[in-house]
Amino acid sequence: PPSGPIGIDPLRSVAKEMKFMTGNIRQLLGSGHPMLDKVSKYYTQSEGKYIRPMLVLLMSQATATMPKRSRMYSRGAEEVDRPITSPSVLADANPASPLTAQSLDNGEFADSVLPSQRRLAEITELIHTASLLHDDVIDTSTSRRGNASANIEFGNKMAVLAGDFLLGRASVALARLRDPEVTELLATVIANLVEGEFMQLKNTVLDERHPVFTDETISYYLQKTYLKSASLISKSCRAAALLGDHSIDVVEAAYQYGKNLGLAFQLVDDMLDYTVSGQELGKPAGADLELGLATAPLLFAWKTNGELGTLVGRKFGEQGDVQMVNQDLQHAIDHADILQAREMVIRSDGIEQTRALAQEYVDTAARAISGFPDSEAKVGLIDMCSKVLSRRK
Ligand code: FPP
Ligand code: MG
Ligand code: MG
Repeated sequence: PPSGPIGIDPLRSVAKEMKFMTGNIRQLLGSGHPMLDKVSKYYTQSEGKYIRPMLVLLMSQATATMPKRSRMYSRGAEEVDRPITSPSVLADANPASPLTAQSLDNGEFADSVLPSQRRLAEITELIHTASLLHDDVIDTSTSRRGNASANIEFGNKMAVLAGDFLLGRASVALARLRDPEVTELLATVIANLVEGEFMQLKNTVLDERHPVFTDETISYYLQKTYLKSASLISKSCRAAALLGDHSIDVVEAAYQYGKNLGLAFQLVDDMLDYTVSGQELGKPAGADLELGLATAPLLFAWKTNGELGTLVGRKFGEQGDVQMVNQDLQHAIDHADILQAREMVIRSDGIEQTRALAQEYVDTAARAISGFPDSEAKVGLIDMCSKVLSRRK
């Protein structure tokens, strides 16, 4: 239930904006190749949470009335809304193709969100969806949002290529904003996603046979978490404020809000992997441990129970890239370790500590925007903080 003034849903302010989002995103993904078209749009059919575009729109609205400064690179709707879908060779040969360009839909309403900020919202979802396509290949996942994941439905090759296609189209849309600072931010996000994924794949802190828990264990995890999750959320909030031509104080506040909310978001994600069933999540539960990933609940449990270190050293430093001679036997041993580690984490206060840290981050996020003028969108941003903490999927 909404936590704003009685009878007002704080997300109402962006509800009408969101209505056009999916259609616009699907239009950005049109391809003359029918199969590429299908695979690229696959995750846009399922009901995503659209957290990133929603945050961009809320941030854009919440800052709309705040002081402006003059920046060199602001562009009007004519330029940023120009259709992007490039008629491919195939489409040129077939004028009846569904690729026929239409302009992007901003709806019938006039409000405080700029066309460039709407396009930014779409770009964040494209980059996020691209990362999911790649992530499901890397994690050999079987389901996403309650359906078969794209790697299962279409195979690894097409899933990877579709992810690349999404990044390509996101890059074109980004270039259309004609804002070098915003382009640099979102290009950095793409690099950060890969850096975060690499830190997870090759954990240099846990790479020893008998790792010991140190301060570095947690800071490595948090750095990884920033790169893989909070970078996109924080830099797109920052970009929203930049596109609104706001002062550096506002830009920095938007960034701090996104950074802290993003860190909390991933901490909760890592917690749900232990506390919620796969049925409820719409994707396999307990997946992190199965993948040999030591996330916050396990790290906090390890801090108080050194025994976990032995399991961590045996399994989690190797990240499954060791080819075993007797794979079946190795797998059986690993699975006993996994079950034992899971039990130890659930019996510890690791989950509670993870929740407490997430709470600290959302409090910091809310504080970052406390100076924003009162508005429905600001209530929405604050409401997102409690939603991140209470979510079950
Ligand atoms: C989901 O995490 C995945 C991410 C947040 C980012 C993954 C990034 C890459 C695969 C790098 C390459 C991608 C691009 C676009 C350059 P998760 O596996 O913990 O969550 P899940 O449970 O939803 O699968
Ligand atoms: Mg995954
Ligand atoms: Mg992953």
